[in-house]
Amino acid sequence: MAAAAKLDNPGGIGGLESLRGLAEIEATRPADLMKHYPKDQGVIDSDYVYQPPLIPHSIRHYEVSLNANKCLACHSWKNAKEMGATKISVTHYVSPQQGQVLSDVSPSRYFCLQCHVPQADAKPLVENDFKRVSALR
Ligand code: HEC
Ligand code: HEC
Repeated sequence: MAAAAKLDNPGGIGGLESLRGLAEIEATRPADLMKHYPKDQGVIDSDYVYQPPLIPHSIRHYEVSLNANKCLACHSWKNAKEMGATKISVTHYVSPQQGQVLSDVSPSRYFCLQCHVPQADAKPLVENDFKRVSALR
């Protein structure tokens, strides 16, 4: 693949294919297809200890902002039981700096999607031979 691209444009990406594909930097390439989120699957098991569990449901239109946190409407300790959702774990109440247990969700855990992502039917971007830790096999 690379040789031709290299000759055509010795600057640019130098014929190297990245996660963005073989597109030159200045080229506007078509957006990737939207990922498919299979419905009705259970929570996929963790691959390592302390992995943030994947989100087994759609999160479309769930606002997480300064003003509102839709996730907590179901997952907070206050609402989880009524909503039939898993409670956020105790670690989400611990302040990472002082290790104190707070009376409400730690600000460091407020933006849920920093760590939790929906379960997409997606190929790994980079081939790898990662294996689940033995304790979880
Ligand atoms: C309308 C209620 C509701 C909202 C809103 C909601 N969830 Fe959930 N969530 C659930 C329920 C119920 C489950 C239990 C699994 C199931 O049946 O889908 C769940 C499961 C999960 C799990 C898997 C927990 C486990 O058992 O390992 C994660 C992680 C999660 N949700 C994260 C989120 C995040 C992040 C948001 C916000 C973007 C969110 N949820 C918004 C109801 C909700
Ligand atoms: C800094 C990363 C991080 C953020 C931010 C975060 N979580 Fe988590 N979450 C984790 C990790 C790691 C675990 C698994 C270990 C644990 O329980 O602490 C987890 C566990 C969970 C679980 C499963 C609890 C159980 O008992 O199995 C739920 C539900 C959850 N998080 C929901 C949320 C919601 C909702 C938010 C936003 C309000 C959020 N998390 C924010 C990292 C995070």
